[in-house]
Amino acid sequence: MAAVPTQTLSAVRDLSFSLAPGEVLGLVGESGSGKSITSLAIMRLLPPQARVSGEILFTQNGAGPQNLPTLEDDGMRQLRGSRIAMIFQEPMTALNPVMRVGNQIAEAVVAHNAVSKRDAWQRAVDAMNDVAIPDAARRARDYPHQLSGGMRQRIMIAMAIVNRPQLLIADEPTTALDVTIQAQILDLLAELHAKFGLAMLFISHDLAVVSRVADRVAVMYSGSLVELGAKRDIFQAPAHPYTRGLLHAVPDLKTDRGRPLQTIEGTVPALHALPPGCSFEPRCEFRIPQCAREFPPLVEVSAGHWARCPVVNSPG
Ligand SMILES: Nc1ncnc2c1ncn2[C@@H]1O[C@H](COP(=O)(O)OP(=O)(O)O)[C@@H](O)[C@H]1O
Ligand code: SF4
Ligand SMILES: [Mg+2]
Repeated sequence: MAAVPTQTLSAVRDLSFSLAPGEVLGLVGESGSGKSITSLAIMRLLPPQARVSGEILFTQNGAGPQNLPTLEDDGMRQLRGSRIAMIFQEPMTALNPVMRVGNQIAEAVVAHNAVSKRDAWQRAVDAMNDVAIPDAARRARDYPHQLSGGMRQRIMIAMAIVNRPQLLIADEPTTALDVTIQAQILDLLAELHAKFGLAMLFISHDLAVVSRVADRVAVMYSGSLVELGAKRDIFQAPAHPYTRGLLHAVPDLKTDRGRPLQTIEGTVPALHALPPGCSFEPRCEFRIPQCAREFPPLVEVSAGHWARCPVVNSPG
């Protein structure tokens, strides 16, 4: 039998951003733009065939920076779930269906601390109180299926914060929830961020959701960062044509209800068919011939505001 040829594709390329202690960075982009791959790369949770190159520097309180890709698996396991925690879109797939939720949170405590089972259980109940689960001591004995979707997401958040991480990565944490519950979870994350000084990488395909929680916003398109800046820069002076298109697609109070929302014409290119130049070129109304040839660099258009489009932002 002939061997099946394999091909390496870049799901994410030339990605660079930083996150200060206690800051919330919103990572936004359409489905398939590489947001989850980015977060899983930080957590070292990508499948074994994936290759990550570059540096991921993490500075623990009072220590020098550690380059995460160079840590032994053991060192990474110690950080994961204690200093860096993650929550996902669908809590049901991350929770064990046959284990009481209190025990699942307590397990996260025991994995990182030398504490008795009784103390771990108490910390689990305290964490459930932190995420505003009513009657936490009793609900800790529930199994996941006895809780609503919103409550299950609160359990995931309790599990993530129980060891007081410095960094919380939240990958579409509200996407599976209905709008009212979504707003409650966003409020809760904002509260925990303030209470514990958590830095957060908040990921969503929804710019309106990101705008509610983020200090700075990073916009991804087709595996690369196309714009990065303070929330105000991104919303008031978007510098990349894709971000401008996204903003037109977000309804606001002034949007005329009778008028259909503007969408960006075209679709995201497939990974195996990325254009050699700017990935947005096939959909871009500002393109010039050079765009199809050269992968554009990120350029600083104003202090701390970067965009991967030299054309729209050239001084001339
Ligand atoms: N395990 C995998 N193997 C191969 N390709 C993958 C894998 N996971 C994701 N991809 C591809 O990587 C790209 C980015 O995916 P992802 O990070 O999940 O996007 P997002 O979270 O922004 O929706 C997509 O084209 C997706 O098909
Ligand atoms: S580099 Fe060219 S194609 Fe890409 S966003 Fe800018 S103008 Fe459009
Ligand atoms: Mg994703």
